Amino acid sequence: MFRVCGIIAITSSSRREDLGHLFVEALKRLEYRGYDSVGIAIVDQNNLYIAKNTGTVESVAKSEGFTFFSGCSGIGHTRWATHGAPTKNNSHPHTDCSKKIAVVHNGIIENYSELKSLLLSRGHLFISDTDTEVVPHLIEEFKSTGLDAYSAFKKAISMLRGTFAIVAIDVSEERKLLFARKVSPLIIGVGRGLALVSSDIVSVLPFTDRVIVLNDDEVGYAEPDRVFIETIEGFPVDISKRVVKIDYHIENFDKGPYEHYMIKEIYEQPYFLTQTLSGLISSRDEVEKSVKLLEVADTIYLIGAGSSYHASLLGALYFRYLGFRAQAIISSEAIPYLRSVKSGDVIVAVSQSGETIDTLLAMRESMRRGVRVVAIVNNPLSTIARESDAYIYMRSGPEICVAATKTFTSQVLVLLYLGLMLMKDHQHTETVLRTLRKLPEITTSIIKSAEDTARKLAKKLSSEHSVYYLGRVFGYPISAEAALKIKEVAYIHAEAYPAGESKHGPIALVTHRFPVIFTIIGELDELIEGNIEEMKARDAYVVTYAPRDKTTSVIEKNSDLVVSLPQASLETSLVTYVIPHQLLAYYTAVERGYNPDRPRNLAKTVTVF
Ligand code: M6R
Repeated sequence: MFRVCGIIAITSSSRREDLGHLFVEALKRLEYRGYDSVGIAIVDQNNLYIAKNTGTVESVAKSEGFTFFSGCSGIGHTRWATHGAPTKNNSHPHTDCSKKIAVVHNGIIENYSELKSLLLSRGHLFISDTDTEVVPHLIEEFKSTGLDAYSAFKKAISMLRGTFAIVAIDVSEERKLLFARKVSPLIIGVGRGLALVSSDIVSVLPFTDRVIVLNDDEVGYAEPDRVFIETIEGFPVDISKRVVKIDYHIENFDKGPYEHYMIKEIYEQPYFLTQTLSGLISSRDEVEKSVKLLEVADTIYLIGAGSSYHASLLGALYFRYLGFRAQAIISSEAIPYLRSVKSGDVIVAVSQSGETIDTLLAMRESMRRGVRVVAIVNNPLSTIARESDAYIYMRSGPEICVAATKTFTSQVLVLLYLGLMLMKDHQHTETVLRTLRKLPEITTSIIKSAEDTARKLAKKLSSEHSVYYLGRVFGYPISAEAALKIKEVAYIHAEAYPAGESKHGPIALVTHRFPVIFTIIGELDELIEGNIEEMKARDAYVVTYAPRDKTTSVIEKNSDLVVSLPQASLETSLVTYVIPHQLLAYYTAVERGYNPDRPRNLAKTVTVF
């Protein structure tokens, strides 16, 4: 079971008339983490007000009058539920019997049934089906023994089993945000006369760029001018060493003139790929540390989930192409593979968020076995970055759309760069780097070449139920990523297959005008020509994406549509050839009337398994 939610809590030294507004803005920024229900709890002049319901931030904020709330402190939550119906009662915040304590939570409390039975026997009344509701009642229970709010909170936390990021507020100490973390991420924002606690930098950044990332098993409280943190065992933490300045720019979080984040983030690729590459070239220490670990590796295992797994597949193929032993593994499947991993091997953990629980658990298991870990992340403050032996920061800017686009291309670029550094063939590296420096122009040109076709093709695909994406060798991971994109944003069943393998079964489904999309990368043109012919012979609707100089007459003859793409080297194609598919998925989703930024049942960061 897994659940991913967004948390924001604010406390201010002065009473704020605009507190409700602040919450609406912060919750909108968090909505990409979960969008089943939304709620806030505000403390104002010794009263606790709760407003929550199912729906989007905009609709709930309007119907429940969020912007009318004033006060000095509050907590807010966006929920993404996979277990139990998203109802008003199950929405966060949850309260105790006296309605003086409110709690928001991300994660799973495994022992909630036994805690609930205990609390029921003590006369507590529950109104939701959630595990979270035990927390305010536990705090209430311990407060009734004479403890202050923080001591009662700490005691409640010590009774929980599972994973959690929890923030609580109590009217008796209205400027104190009580927090605790185990696995699920939580950060504290330190402002002037203002403190925040959130699951995400995105909601803190408008207020401050100074944050503290909580570690596992840490608890504490934040007041407008003071933060206190200790371990659950009671060892105080020196805050001065933990405050870090973040270099994200708030404008990167806005949609700007675009209709959706997805298209904004696709268009941003020429810029952010340059950022990734210049970051790799200028951060020599960061790269060298990773290369030093990788160069002594017997086998390099690349682990990732979703798009990060597809980047890992591409990375592993490229490492092998360069002569290194490498294998990609899906994070959630990694544990059995890790049994045969030896201490001489190295793991590359690929995760844009740096928080994906499946990847984190696989990485921790590897480290427990004495294996070193290099991480590739887009958040240097993330758990995966902080726990790895070395990490590379992708510098892709914040990615808000649930579907990964620019972070995928950056991941691929980082992996190719690592491969080149491992090769230690200076001349070859320089030649390839010269082509990679052209990525902004090539990417822009790819977007131009593919945009019109994507719009037109989207019209055809929008009425289809199924589509195949086929490619050989490097073309296969790109196809897998293409299939994932159209599945998650346009809800069309899509399957990626190695093109040569398609005749061993999948071709049975191909009938009149069945869409089959080929991606050609690299040197195997003749073989893929045969695969294209096979599909055409079954009357498929064939679309072929191919490098400009590789569109042969056989491909032309057997494809209903050929999209010629610029390429400067194999490496530039590996980074950019997914972009036409990102555009196709985007326009198909729009054509079908879906919001690609908020695919149903999905969340941006899956922090609980
Ligand atoms: O943050 P991560 O890169 O670890 O996330 C991994 C997957 O959850 C992610 O790639 C997911 O598959 C995206 N929705 C793909 O678009």
